[in-house]
Amino acid sequence: MNLDLYFRPSVLSLTPYSSARDDFQGEASVFLDANENPYNSPYNRYPDPHHRKLRKRIAELKNVPPESIFLGNGSDEAIDLLIRATCEPGVHSVLAIDPTYGMYAVAAAVNNVRYTGVLLKEDFSLDREKLLGAVTSQTRLLFLCSPNNPTANSFDPADIAYLVRNFQGQGLVVLDEAYIDFSRYPGFLGRLQDFENLVILQTFSKAWGLAGVRLGMAFANPDIIKILYKIKYPYNINVLTQELVIDFLSKPYLKDQWVEMILSERTILAQRLAGLPFVKMVYPSDANFLLVQVDETEKIYNWLCGQSVIVRNRSNVNLCSGCLRITVGTPEENQKLLDALSYYKK
Ligand SMILES: Cc1ncc(COP(=O)(O)O)c(C=O)c1O
Repeated sequence: MNLDLYFRPSVLSLTPYSSARDDFQGEASVFLDANENPYNSPYNRYPDPHHRKLRKRIAELKNVPPESIFLGNGSDEAIDLLIRATCEPGVHSVLAIDPTYGMYAVAAAVNNVRYTGVLLKEDFSLDREKLLGAVTSQTRLLFLCSPNNPTANSFDPADIAYLVRNFQGQGLVVLDEAYIDFSRYPGFLGRLQDFENLVILQTFSKAWGLAGVRLGMAFANPDIIKILYKIKYPYNINVLTQELVIDFLSKPYLKDQWVEMILSERTILAQRLAGLPFVKMVYPSDANFLLVQVDETEKIYNWLCGQSVIVRNRSNVNLCSGCLRITVGTPEENQKLLDALSYYKK
């Protein structure tokens, strides 16, 4: 893979910070190398900057080599690092679908990188030709999100593959699969080897129920992963997160049970919402949320807030006019939402 095509020269040539534990490989029993406090074990020790144990366990679960896995403080860290690794501020630009997850645009703005959103089609499918037509010689990244937030649909895998292939040699495609566990599609992890310029993002924040511990994953060609490890903060994943996630990885049945419950609740909630008089449309969902178009969106949103039920108002988002985004909760939470809506009077 010709990394010069994709990455900033300054990033490729930099020497990363070498942490105390980098210089020594093996089993030591006396640690006097990192100016740590010798008391208060295990929190006194810096975490493993390479996340070796955690990566090995994730590699087994996902059936991907550990060298193809980057771990970040949420997927948001990987999004920011990918922009910083590839785009010269004020020179290069990124492209994304519109509407989509808001952090791609924020991370681009923070890095002074131009961001262009390309509208999905009216049915929320990818507009392949419009996306490729928007690529310029300065475009370094293309963000896709499938299932997409907030539209809730997955894209046709053939469209995704077409875009990745056509962007090869020009830039990286970042395919955000945060909601893949709720999707009818298997996602692209099994096809990682087919595309040198594909980076897949996944997270422990959704299906695994671990949003509070902050752990995101990026999967890609090992050459790309090495660069992300080179530029991240050395100790980006703390000891508690690494240990807790290792523990959860031995109980994948929990995640499977949660996904099953959420999917069955999604079906019930969608049906019941569709029966309400002010609901115009419940869009098909491949994620753990529903996009729902209603009459008087603002008033319903405020009514729900007054009833202590918080949903997300997406009515100002392109293609989502009049829409609320509603996360699928527990049966009790969903019932409270439906009760609150049933009391709503125009
Ligand atoms: C598409 C998408 N990607 C990433 C994230 C954030 O993931 P993380 O919690 O791993 O930073 C979200 C959160 O809502 C999301 O919707």
